[in-house]
This record gives sequence, structure tokens and C-alpha cells, in this order.
Amino acid sequence: MIKRLWAKLGKSSLPTADSLTLENIPQHVAIIMDGNGRWAKNRGLPRVAGHHSGMKTVKRITIAADRLGIKYLTMYAFSTENWKRPKSEVDFLMKLPQQFLEIELDELISNNVQVRMMGTREKLPQHTLYALEEAMRKTANNTGLVLNFALNYGSRMEMLDAVKEIAKDVQEGHITVDGIDDALMSSRLLSCDIPDPDLLIRTSGELRLSNFMLWQLAYSELWFTDVYWPEFTDKHFYGAIQEYQRRARRYGGL
Ligand code: FPP
Repeated sequence: MIKRLWAKLGKSSLPTADSLTLENIPQHVAIIMDGNGRWAKNRGLPRVAGHHSGMKTVKRITIAADRLGIKYLTMYAFSTENWKRPKSEVDFLMKLPQQFLEIELDELISNNVQVRMMGTREKLPQHTLYALEEAMRKTANNTGLVLNFALNYGSRMEMLDAVKEIAKDVQEGHITVDGIDDALMSSRLLSCDIPDPDLLIRTSGELRLSNFMLWQLAYSELWFTDVYWPEFTDKHFYGAIQEYQRRARRYGGL
């Protein structure tokens, strides 16, 4: 699907060349996909219709990111807190990775996309895990865009697990307290082998991080939009990249 859509989108969907500098494309974009429920409610549809529509946006934005040469795209698909939702909604959300991959995996493979998952496998239904593991296995050697699904992911839990692991290593004498630094902490997180996001996008007008990549987002540029995720298009995405390119990243320096 990506190849076909890629051709269909054409150059006209990109901001003009002088507004989007192809030399300064973020390496890693992370997205909090929000507003599915409100989008559905506004149309008198059940909430799950919003999630289903949101799945189509995942495809759209994957294509857009790939076209720009973005290397990592992390999508917050299900948080450790989302288990609190009604069982019927959780069950629906857990079917989406399988549904998405059933339709898209072949195209993802032919477009050299590598699928990954970031989160705790515990509690995930077998069918969800199976679909993701199959996709990860089949795309493991792909060298293009890394499509990283944050699923059953919670940043505080991730950091607590890392801290416990480090404490154990100190206790057992493998490392010293003075040896604990940024790099060591990063190496113990679920994102250990991918760079921190350069840009975070959150849709739907909410201005918070919701337990998402709290360590990794320390120096990321944040970009918020009122647009609900099902309505988020490649143009919105390119607009976010354009805004990113106008920012001066100083990392605390001058
Ligand atoms: C938040 O919107 C969204 C989610 C909890 C789920 C996001 C999942 C998708 C967009 C589909 C994922 C697709 C794949 C392929 C894994 P919300 O329901 O909280 O919206 P609301 O704030 O308007 O109620």
C-alpha cells in the first residue's frame, strides 16, 4: 500500500521545497496519537470507529515519514494506563496491530520498513503478540524507516525497571555509583538502541506527555495541534516538520 500511495500522493502534498529543508529532517519523530474518541463522538459514531480510522492515519503518516527519509517513527498505540478503559474498547485496540499488519505487512516489507515494538509483552493477548512478533521477525533485516509501536508502554515503569536493574548491578559490584550516567540510564531503557526523539507531535489539543518517553524527550522539540488523529494528514505532518526546522535547538547552551 505504501508504494501505491506514495505514487498517488505526488509532490503536491509536500510544503514547497523552500519551506521544507530536506537537509534538516528529524531523525526520530514520536507521536501521541490522540483524539480518536472525540472524532468519533462528533460524528455520532462509537469510540472504536475513531480507533479504526486512526489506524488508517498510522499508514498515512508512515508513508509521509518514509518519503522524507525520517529514520525512526514511534507511535504511542497503547499505554500501561489504557487497560483502565472498558474491556470492549481494550479488546478492539488489541486487535488493531494484527489488523494493520494483515493488510500492510507485505507493503511494509517491500518498502524496507522495519517494524518494532516498545513496551511490556506481559498482559498482551497472544494474537496481538503473534502479529507483532511475526512482523518484527520478517522485517528485522530491513534498513529503511523503523516503525516503532509503543504498546503497553509506560515511561515511569520503564524508568523504574531501569533503575532497579542498575541498583542490582551496583549491589553485585558490576558498576559503581559514580559510573551511573546519562548514557548508562539510556542503555537500560526499552529505547536503548534508538536515538532520542528530535520531535514529539501530539494531536487533539491536549498539552501533556501522558507518561510517554519522559527521559527520552528531555531535549525534544514539542509540537501540538488541535487536529484529531483520524483527521491528521501528511500535510499536517509536514507542517510539524516545517515548524521543527524553524526551531533553534540549543540543548541548554547559547
Ligand atoms: C487516544 O485517543 C488513542 C489511543 C489510546 C489509541 C491509539 C491507537 C491508534 C490510533 C491506532 C493504532 C494502530 C495500530 C496499527 C497499532 P483517545 O481514544 O483517548 O481519544 P479521546 O481523547 O478523544 O477520547
